[in-house]
Amino acid sequence: MKRAWILIALSVLVVGLPAVKPQASPSNDSNPNAPIYTQDGNLKFPANYREWVYLTSGVDMSYGPAMNMGHSMFDNVFVNPEAYKGFLQTGTWPDKTMLVLEERKAGSKGSINKNGHFQTGEVMGREVHVKDEARFPGKWAFFSSDEGVTGKLLPTDMDCYSCHAQHGAVDTTFVQFYPTLLEIAKKKNTLSAAYVKEESRQADGDKKKQ
Ligand code: HEC
Repeated sequence: MKRAWILIALSVLVVGLPAVKPQASPSNDSNPNAPIYTQDGNLKFPANYREWVYLTSGVDMSYGPAMNMGHSMFDNVFVNPEAYKGFLQTGTWPDKTMLVLEERKAGSKGSINKNGHFQTGEVMGREVHVKDEARFPGKWAFFSSDEGVTGKLLPTDMDCYSCHAQHGAVDTTFVQFYPTLLEIAKKKNTLSAAYVKEESRQADGDKKKQ
């Protein structure tokens, strides 16, 4: 008799488990897309990033004198869905965020297209921006992957780190170019001080020109 009770209690527990489980929060356990590293400190490139949340496509963006590459290029940005949900709630990125920038060669004449650019099958580069607070002294690190298998850790003296830290609107990321996120950051007051200052300086400059 006792044993039957234990069995019933156990089965109730098992059936009841999914209901008691806390709501998925962007923590380590509930993030199947958390970064995985290789033994030598590089990153296992997240092969399924094309199933993540799409943030933006930039075309031929440049931050200095234009380079003539002889072709146009798109950069497509994706983020793991757990981090995206975290951003919607807080206006900033939770630990274990991964953002992938995919550089894709543009085509211009193909099929029925006569004007403008479309994206081709040719990926020209992949870069990953990873937030891992316990692992990286600056909380974030960049990885680069040509072949899409391993992301090579980039050293912190590369200009990736300084440009992102100085000009990224939220937590070293370029949220000013991610249209579904900028408004949220404004509402939640998470824009970086440097970005806010840069924007107001630019607005002043625009006024003077008028
Ligand atoms: C001079 C400024 C600048 C430098 C240097 C720079 N980036 Fe960026 N990066 C940007 C901008 C602007 C975007 C937004 C792109 C868009 O909107 O399409 C961006 C976006 C990204 C993203 C998407 C996630 C995010 O953080 O917003 C990754 C990943 C990235 N860059 C990696 C790199 C790597 C790796 C390097 C160095 C090899 C680098 N970047 C150097 C300006 C810079």
